[in-house]
Parts: sequence; C-alpha cells; structure tokens
Amino acid sequence: MKNKIVSLVGARPQFVKEAVIASEVHKTNAWNHILVHSGQHYDANMSDLFFEELHIPTPQYFLEVGSSRHGKQTALVLEKFEDILLREKPDIVIVYGDTNTTVAGALAAAKLKIPVAHIEAGIRQSPKDMPEEINRVVTDHLSSLLFCCSELSRQNLQKENIIDGVFISGDIMYDLFLRMKPYFLKDKILQRLHLHEGKYTLVTLHRDFNVDNKENLVSILEGLHSYSKAMGLTIVFPMHPRTQKRIEEFNLTKYLDFMNIIEPIGYLELMGLLEGCANVVTDSGGLQKEAYFAKKQAAVIMPDTGWREIIESGWNQLVPANMAKEVLPQTLGNKSAAYPDNLYGKGEASKLIVKAITSTLKN
Ligand code: UD1
Repeated sequence: MKNKIVSLVGARPQFVKEAVIASEVHKTNAWNHILVHSGQHYDANMSDLFFEELHIPTPQYFLEVGSSRHGKQTALVLEKFEDILLREKPDIVIVYGDTNTTVAGALAAAKLKIPVAHIEAGIRQSPKDMPEEINRVVTDHLSSLLFCCSELSRQNLQKENIIDGVFISGDIMYDLFLRMKPYFLKDKILQRLHLHEGKYTLVTLHRDFNVDNKENLVSILEGLHSYSKAMGLTIVFPMHPRTQKRIEEFNLTKYLDFMNIIEPIGYLELMGLLEGCANVVTDSGGLQKEAYFAKKQAAVIMPDTGWREIIESGWNQLVPANMAKEVLPQTLGNKSAAYPDNLYGKGEASKLIVKAITSTLKN
C-alpha cells in the first residue's frame, strides 16, 4: 500500500509552495497526498485565486478557522487538525514556512508522534518576539525532516543543535518562479492598470510591526510619497486587507491619493507586475526573494530579514519603518550592486524534497 502524507496550508505563501510539491508528488506518484487548508486566509483573492491559477488540487479538508487573535487562531488549527490526523493516520505531515497554521500543524502532529517535515526550515530573524519568528523556532524544534533554502539556514539550525534530518534543498519558490515564468501576466496587468514598463515601483506591506503601528505606517507612506515624487515613478500597491483596515482606522486615507491602490492579486499577475517594475518596496518574505529572482532590487521594510543572503550581497536593502520617511527616497537604485547568482539553489528543490521524503518513508 502507498504511504500517506498530509500537507497543511492556510496562508498565501503556503499555497504557492504547495503548488510545487503537489505537482512533483503527482509526477512521481510518490505517495498518497492529502491536502488540508486551515482557512487562515479565506478571501477569494487571498486564497481561491491561487488554487485556480497554480492548478493546486482542491483540499480534501477545509478547517475554516478564519481570522482571530494569534492564540485563538493557532488553537483552532491545532484542535481541528488533530481530528484530521486521528482520522487519516498519515506517515508524515508536511508544513510550510512560518505562519500560525505552520506551528499549529507541527504541534498537532508531534503530539501524535507523527514525523513533521518542515519546508523552509532554519530561517532566523530578529526580533525574537515577532509572530513568524516564534512560529519558525517552535516548528523547527518539532520537526524530524528540515528542508533549508541555503547553507546559512543549515548553520542556524546547527547553532540550536538541530543536526539530524537537515537537508539543503534550495528554495521551492524558485522552482515555481522558473516554471511559471512563461505564464506571468505582465502585458495583461500593465494594460489593465495603465502602467508603463520600468516607470513604477511595486509596493506590498502587511507586517504587524509596520501596519499596526500608526507612526511606522505614516513614516513608510511619507517615504513612498517623497520617493515617488523625486523619481517620477508611480507607486503600485496591491493592498493586503489588514493594511487597508489600518489605513482606514488611523485616518490615513489621504495618502492613498498619490498611489495606484489595487486589491490583492494572484501569483501570475503579481509576477507580471514584478517583471515590469523599476524596483520593489516590501515587507513580504516571499516578494523580497521573488524580486531577487526577477533581478529587481528591493527596499525591505524590516529591521531584519530571514533572507540575509540577499542583503549581504548588497542587492536588497533593509529599511526599518521608523527610518523609511528619510531613508527610503535614497535607498533604491543602488545600481552598483552586482547580481548574486544562485543564492537559493537552482530551482530543483521540489525534486530533492520529494526524493528525501520518499527515501525516509522506505526506511
Ligand atoms: C499571515 C502570516 C504571515 C504571512 C502572511 C501572508 C502569521 C502569523 N502571519 O499574515 O507570516 O507573510 O500571512 O499573507 O501567520 N484578512 C482578511 N482576509 C483574508 C485574510 C486576512 O480580511 O483572507 C485580514 C483579517 O482582518 C486578519 C488580518 O487580515 O485579521 C491578518 O490576517 P492573518 O492571516 O492573521 O495574518 P497576515 O497578516 O495575513
């Protein structure tokens, strides 16, 4: 009988990663793959769109946890996911990245003594109290198979005495980027938004420390304003629902006038926008890496990032929110930085991950 693996997703960046793993599992007929969606992200354009355009199979289970406080959201996934695991009795559970869904899934599995495979393991970032960092550290310590995007991630795990079961696989997001590149919807989105290639900056913001703090949010919006005026670039901003809510609550809607604000968009349109932009301003872990894949420079609105290799190479730059107003206008366009090749593998991570899991199942 075939082995059974349960894969848990719940938020945008995980749908993207699942697309690559599901397709490799399908291609190699590696195991019986059961997909569970926690429902952490639930809006059509935060969830369904990704399943449609990346051809991700419909999840067998949908936990409908929705939005709530961190403890409650995590607890809901933990409780509901445990029921699924008791019913399905999988050989391994796969979790991705660093969201509340990730940590809850890892904990539910570990308590039932089901081995956990963590994809995107070993990322470390200060401050230690940011929700994603708590999720990463706990998940890594609960996992038996840890797939790292780079040597630096492996070293981070080693410092915490996590040595067994660690693989440097490269980044599955790079696999997806290369595979889907021919389908990126650049012309379509440029036309729809009346944009000219190279004449706009792509912006995304959603981190709690940037958007839930009024002073930080104002500093970023002011920085974007000065930057766009100085450079003559349009700001194109697909806005996360959380950011939209805060801008309204803090009465900052006047800042929306100088930007081209759009609803959150799917992967193929976002990558199209990325290909056509001059540069990027973001606090998304995924987009700062995708900017690098697309050879676009990014100002990363964070005090620190887990994707340090790109910062150390001089390609992307960190801009803490409270300094954005002054620093942002001078940050982008460091044309002297040379493009650093292959920081996160060669786009073969999914093959390696599926192979490594398959050989573990045989032992
Ligand atoms: C989560 C992850 C973050 C990841 C991001 C990708 C955690 C702790 N954070 O952040 O690491 O980078 O997803 O997008 O898990 N909302 C909606 N509709 C939705 C989803 C969210 O309106 O479909 C609103 C709700 O008001 C919600 C808020 O956005 O309270 C935040 O959503 P949540 O999933 O808790 O965190 P993200 O900020 O999306």
